[in-house]
Amino acid sequence: MLVGLGAVSTTFIAGVMAVRKGIARPIGSLTQMGTIRLGKRTDGRTPLIKDLMPLASLDDIVFGGWDIFDDNCYKAATTAGVLEPSLLAQIKPELEAIKPMSAVFDRHYVKRLDGPNVKKGANKMELAEQVRADIRRFKQENALDRLVMIWCGSTEIFMVETEAHQSIEAFEKALHRSDVSIPSSMVYAYAALKEGIPYANGAPNLTVDIPALMELAQQNGSPVTGKDFKTGQTLIKTVIAPGLKARLIGIKGWYSTNILGNRDGEVLDDPESFKTKEESKKSVLDYILQPDLYPELYKDLCHVVRINYYPPRGDNKEGWDNIDLVGWLGYPMQLKINFLCRDSILAAPIVLDVVLFLDMAARAGLSGIQEWLSFYFKSPMHARGLYPEHDLFIQMMKLKNTLRFLRGEELITHLGHEYYD
Ligand SMILES: NC(=O)c1ccc[n+]([C@@H]2O[C@H](COP(=O)([O-])OP(=O)(O)OC[C@H]3O[C@@H](n4cnc5c(N)ncnc54)[C@H](O)[C@@H]3O)[C@@H](O)[C@H]2O)c1
Repeated sequence: MLVGLGAVSTTFIAGVMAVRKGIARPIGSLTQMGTIRLGKRTDGRTPLIKDLMPLASLDDIVFGGWDIFDDNCYKAATTAGVLEPSLLAQIKPELEAIKPMSAVFDRHYVKRLDGPNVKKGANKMELAEQVRADIRRFKQENALDRLVMIWCGSTEIFMVETEAHQSIEAFEKALHRSDVSIPSSMVYAYAALKEGIPYANGAPNLTVDIPALMELAQQNGSPVTGKDFKTGQTLIKTVIAPGLKARLIGIKGWYSTNILGNRDGEVLDDPESFKTKEESKKSVLDYILQPDLYPELYKDLCHVVRINYYPPRGDNKEGWDNIDLVGWLGYPMQLKINFLCRDSILAAPIVLDVVLFLDMAARAGLSGIQEWLSFYFKSPMHARGLYPEHDLFIQMMKLKNTLRFLRGEELITHLGHEYYD
């Protein structure tokens, strides 16, 4: 169940449908194409992840969701303009059959957006009850065994934790009085967790990462993960930065800018939504570079992130990075990166993997924050008192070791002792 049937969601749905029909390949998806080494290097055991893990099959997935616009998924995918009309034509009837349920929406939290397909209710608790009823109806009408909810809706304004977020009781009272500290995304997350289903947050906004909802997730056995899909510029940043740091190359400045012309870009043109995104994009370097441990190399790093809404580009984002480096004896160097990426093409396989892994996690009895899914996010959720892991390669090791652990396989330490055992 997808909250927001925009560019990312429709690219994901149409993609899975195309893969099911054998007309395209699921490139970028670890669950569909990735392998995992098991045992010693000399054992030669490297199955596909989907053969090792009991993941739901693509053929068994049914899609549904909510949006403030009432366009069906074919129309929404056409508007998003990510996929070729010739591809969409081959799956048109299936896409047209997916019509958004009415949304919980309030412009206070997304200033640049407005639409007609919105629920009405006396207060936010009533809206949450309506979403719970949607979930149950969807499950029953499609005769489903299990559900996962994933937020692929627009980025909401920057918010901080308040008293209303501190316990389930305080949160429910706040729902009843429609407290301003509960944005639409929290109403959906509450509904999902009350129904005991896993929840993922693909956007950077504060949603499930508050004590009240974490408590509810534990209570009802729901695994949760987020936040903010790690797709374009930040993905590359978390590949390059650990490499430079590994060689102790200093970084004086990292300037990142983007042009983007889709609806996400339009929403992020609002300073309040951008602030949420900016915090998410900027946090990665601090954790990867550890300026406290390496003050000479990284303490005075100037990190700037910009997103410019530029309609002609549509979903085809272009990102530029200028990195000012410092080498041996303090000699300066520069690295320039120009990434011509497609936002939703990078995000869609993440949606698929996150949904399949969360569903599997729920069956394995895991609940609360799934740190092993940090691999997919710009602002990985983590337990209080711990710091997030941003290095893509550590994240991948953590993910794969979790899969090994769940299957009772030996964890891989890379000690390389095969020949001595
Ligand atoms: N590479 C990426 O594309 C990428 C990476 C990281 C995060 N994200 C985040 O994923 C989200 C989706 O991106 P997108 O490109 O699909 O954006 P989009 O604007 O195409 O789609 C978002 C959809 O959500 C709907 N929506 C907004 N508020 C809603 C609500 N309360 N209830 C139901 N529907 C609601 C909008 O009407 C829209 O159709 C954004 O928050 C974006 O920041 C995207």
